[in-house]
Amino acid sequence: MKLYMNRHRVIGRRDPMLYGHFIEHFHRQIYGGVYDPGNPLSDEDGFRTDVIEAMRKIHVPILRWPGGCFVSSYHWKDGVGPERTPQFDKAWRVEEPNTFGTDEYIALCRKIGCQPYICTNAGTGSAEEMSDWVEYCNLPQEGSYAKQRIRNGHTEPFDVKYWSIGNENYGFWEIGAKSAAEWAALTTEAAKMMKHVDPRIELTAAALTDLDWNISLLRSCGKFLDWISIHEYWDPIHNTNEFADYEASMVYTNDMGHSVRKVRGLLEAMGLEKQIRIAFDEWNLRGWYHPGVHTVQQALTKEEYLLPRDKNDINSQYTMADAVFTACFLNMVNRNCDIVGMANFAPVVNTRGCIFTHENGIVLRTTYHVFDLYVNLLGDTVIDAWTEDLPCGKLRAKDGTPTDTELLDVLVTAFSDRPGTAVAVVNKDPEKTQSITLSFEAEGTVTQYYISGNSTESYNDIDRTEVEPGRRELGTFREGMEVELLPHSVNILQII
Ligand code: AHR
Repeated sequence: MKLYMNRHRVIGRRDPMLYGHFIEHFHRQIYGGVYDPGNPLSDEDGFRTDVIEAMRKIHVPILRWPGGCFVSSYHWKDGVGPERTPQFDKAWRVEEPNTFGTDEYIALCRKIGCQPYICTNAGTGSAEEMSDWVEYCNLPQEGSYAKQRIRNGHTEPFDVKYWSIGNENYGFWEIGAKSAAEWAALTTEAAKMMKHVDPRIELTAAALTDLDWNISLLRSCGKFLDWISIHEYWDPIHNTNEFADYEASMVYTNDMGHSVRKVRGLLEAMGLEKQIRIAFDEWNLRGWYHPGVHTVQQALTKEEYLLPRDKNDINSQYTMADAVFTACFLNMVNRNCDIVGMANFAPVVNTRGCIFTHENGIVLRTTYHVFDLYVNLLGDTVIDAWTEDLPCGKLRAKDGTPTDTELLDVLVTAFSDRPGTAVAVVNKDPEKTQSITLSFEAEGTVTQYYISGNSTESYNDIDRTEVEPGRRELGTFREGMEVELLPHSVNILQII
């Protein structure tokens, strides 16, 4: 395959928040995940230092919290102050101890060095409760909530800039689900009140690719919004945990940008594309495994709906399929960086996350190394690029259907603060080495960073590191040089 690019045709400067993350009060993401008081690996505030170090290494820019479905019956006031009242979490049907609340979350973000991004309860919550939360976090001292924050030991406001109104309130599974009309009314009032408290905040609201929902939301609340949120999990295994295999996962990479395309089109049709950006604030190849909950008939026993959640923790499930898919997604949002400003891997710790925690340490799953390569080696300026002789293959979809699938996926970037070019190229081919011919002008020496594993099924686990970044020096750049790409590999070609 030949790759061409025109350095002068800049698609945009990607927002660092494209490499964002999400953490929810679900299973072991918070308790036993990032927050593990009493573990020798935790600091004086109860946070796992090994997890924080790993998150800092991939420069997590923003962390969305506390949900997800959890938030739609969460009341933030239960999670602040000296007395924390355990509540029953109606979303996940477990007791929430509330020992990790807003103050702990902000402390975590400060330790990671990331922006906080709070998703509010638009399920059972009210516009007033959402705006009270903004008071608690952002007012210097006016009113009871800011004074409560001060009494809780935080004199200075937290200055939380990013806020979401609700989470998937369009879905029957969501506590406090709404109709489009109800959603328009609630978001408009909530946005108004939240911006009355702090006009500096940036607001998003839960949306999807449904036209009626989005038109109703944007017509009523669009004037207040800076973002519109969408979510996508490609392998819907919430009730089965029956993973799409490597080839089927690659078939999912076909037309990955369909949701972005639809929402972009609507924003443009409504003249909002310069005011509102897309926050892809939950995404992952794999749906989370929680049988008997996102269903009308709830499972009856904990053996049916609670214990199976431990199966999210089986590290051998997260292979090169997850890594290659993740790279293709990151390529897609970078190529759409003129309209997509944030994306949040769901989640960051445990469940389907890129970091797995256990009593004595962490496992960096394959997807973690994709973030490490992209965040630390790619440029911040996305360049228009095109290809010739792009190889295609017939790969089996999850239902067994042979499906035409492009085998290479490419992103070309430059650096706004220095010369150089960095190309991300993904070889989805499960068996064959592919090659790319760099048919453009550039100067410098070429270094190839890559992950590939020994097979499509390679994974990392406790005391087992099968996938970690490799590096090859390719010498001085020559226009027309050909670079080999290992099967099932994610590659960054730095030319600097
Ligand atoms: O499966 C996890 C859930 O996926 C999140 O809580 C929710 O936002 C989405 O439906």
